[in-house]
Amino acid sequence: MIVSPSLLSADFGHLADDLDMINRSEADWLHLDVMDGVFVPNISFGFPVIKYVQELCEKPLDVHLMIVEPQKFVSQVRDCGAAIMNVHYEACTHLDRVVQQIHNAGMKAGVTINPATPVCLLRDIVEQVDLVLLMSVNPGFGGQRFIRNTLNKVRLLRELIDETGSQAVIEVDGGVNDTTGAELAEAGADVLVAGNYVFKADDPFEAISTLKRL
Ligand code: DX5
Ligand code: ZN
Repeated sequence: MIVSPSLLSADFGHLADDLDMINRSEADWLHLDVMDGVFVPNISFGFPVIKYVQELCEKPLDVHLMIVEPQKFVSQVRDCGAAIMNVHYEACTHLDRVVQQIHNAGMKAGVTINPATPVCLLRDIVEQVDLVLLMSVNPGFGGQRFIRNTLNKVRLLRELIDETGSQAVIEVDGGVNDTTGAELAEAGADVLVAGNYVFKADDPFEAISTLKRL
């Protein structure tokens, strides 16, 4: 399993310590949630913070933009050192163009869907993207309960990927822990994002290792 701990649940007063933990852990990527207070009912952090994180973090940055008009920020996301730029299907009128812009900027492109957005809507974009991020909570906050219908969506997405010959990996975000993570692995997920489960754990190294072995 590819593991992408979500920095949203880190201790922002001691970010350098948490990033040191991530560097020394088995985490594959670091997930960064950017929120604008418009697309989602919350505001998190922006580019200056991501730039700082990039200087200290040795793992690829998996940036999840929960913002309207993400196409306006492709070069800024790239300049922050992101390896993957995830945009929401629901935020892009011209998704195909945004995916091309992300690729032209030298990043991997991810498309994200909210819990109420059906997987079948991805049919005509799934071959163009490197990753599909399925939200297993309504985006905006860490620490929410896993929405179980996501397991069906992972299975449907796996079928769609196999049918179309897409190379996209399946990432799931929200309410992931050892139990839901095991169910997601069984359903066919490739990447697990985990915020609270990792950063609020007594032993974050152990939490990351547990997900890694699923
Ligand atoms: C929610 C964010 C998530 C969040 C996950 O809108 O996209 O990445 O940090 O947090 P947990 O794992 O605590 O549900
Ligand atoms: Zn996220």
